[in-house]
Amino acid sequence: MVELSLAQLHPSLDDPVLLSMNLLNDIASDHPQAVSFAAGRPYEEFFRVEQLHDYLGTFVTHLTEVVGLTDEEARRTVFQYGRTKGVIHDLVARYLEIDEGITVDPDAVVVTVGSQEAMFLTLRSLRVSPQDVVLAVTPTYFGLTGAARLLDMPVLDVGDGDGGLDLVDLEHQVAAARARGQRPRALYLVPDFSNPTGVSLDLATRTALLDLAADLDLLIIEDNPYGLFHADPGTRPPTLKALDTRRQVVYVGSFAKTGLPGARVGFVVADQPVVRDGRTAGTLAEQLSLIKSNVTLNTSPVAQAVIGGKLLRHGCSMLAANKREIEVYRANLRRMLAGLTARFGATGSVTWNTPAGGFFVVLTVPFTVDDRSLHRSARDHGVIWTPMHHFHTGMTSSHQIRLSFSLLDDASIDEGLDRLTAFVTAEAQAFGHSA
Ligand SMILES: Cc1ncc(COP(=O)(O)O)c(C=O)c1O
Repeated sequence: MVELSLAQLHPSLDDPVLLSMNLLNDIASDHPQAVSFAAGRPYEEFFRVEQLHDYLGTFVTHLTEVVGLTDEEARRTVFQYGRTKGVIHDLVARYLEIDEGITVDPDAVVVTVGSQEAMFLTLRSLRVSPQDVVLAVTPTYFGLTGAARLLDMPVLDVGDGDGGLDLVDLEHQVAAARARGQRPRALYLVPDFSNPTGVSLDLATRTALLDLAADLDLLIIEDNPYGLFHADPGTRPPTLKALDTRRQVVYVGSFAKTGLPGARVGFVVADQPVVRDGRTAGTLAEQLSLIKSNVTLNTSPVAQAVIGGKLLRHGCSMLAANKREIEVYRANLRRMLAGLTARFGATGSVTWNTPAGGFFVVLTVPFTVDDRSLHRSARDHGVIWTPMHHFHTGMTSSHQIRLSFSLLDDASIDEGLDRLTAFVTAEAQAFGHSA
């Protein structure tokens, strides 16, 4: 039998960053009875199989009645191999205009297999030589770090400061990288309800970042899967892409939280002009499309049709499509914050942040949390969560826990918080701290 040595396979395959997702999934499936604050999944109680048929039909009807395709052409659009940049690019552009105030040419949109593929394509295009590096606001979503590892592209940490981004550190990291001979290509961040911290950048920081990135000659990769889930929509600042007058921002979007994750549909807006020998060669989107044609050929048109139909059913607004879900997320965030206050408010040694929306809250405890503590929490207390070290590129130890509340109902939030309190109390006692 052929035996392959892991040492002879790509080094990322032995990298803890790539193993994070599997490890966390394994703990969840080993403890099916546990209350889970771990999964960053959208609320699923409103999912209905009939919706898939309805959305698919709505999209095909749109193709014939609005776009003007014949029945045969419409059938081919959904059944056949298709356009590399996607078949719902115009609907995505309308959605961006309506929900995000972002105006883009639909031709600058590449529909991808989740935003994960969008990140991979973007990093692939920017990693030209071993000097090319990407910066990421840390703690960082491990999808970005994982994609970078697969491409042998170093990820340099930038501090998140008090407000979600430390601009002084960004300048410092870029200068230090250049002094080492590295070439920082882009800064990756999630400006709205970040995964894992739940923190959002205020408007002043957003405009200061755009100015600084221009001075530093740095692209920005804005990843925005949670932006529509604001607990108080009136106060939401514009996305970086909406503020982008210099085409500095490559905008990565996902329909996993607003559409349905099973469709695996995301997209990237890459409207940066590209030149070859002084002559225009289209936009970055064309280049990403070329890479995509050699990775996944095209995003499943069936899946795109489902997302396209959902958009059409709601006037191209995912905000409208998610009215009920947004109410759930709001109520859950309130319940989490009140529940944490009731249980830990008097301790002084256990603290948490207060995000303005999204799926996540971060709890800080007076002892180190790692995967072994997570095992104890699951086994002895029936509650799981995500240790924050999974979001640090060097897996550095941490006193923090990411709590996700998007999938839960009232009773499980209360039960989960009771169990979490028992875990925190037991660990604090075992490690000689008071909680
Ligand atoms: C920051 C961030 N980006 C992107 C995604 C979603 O990626 P995809 O569209 O590939 O499901 C997630 C999901 O957890 C996320 O937290």
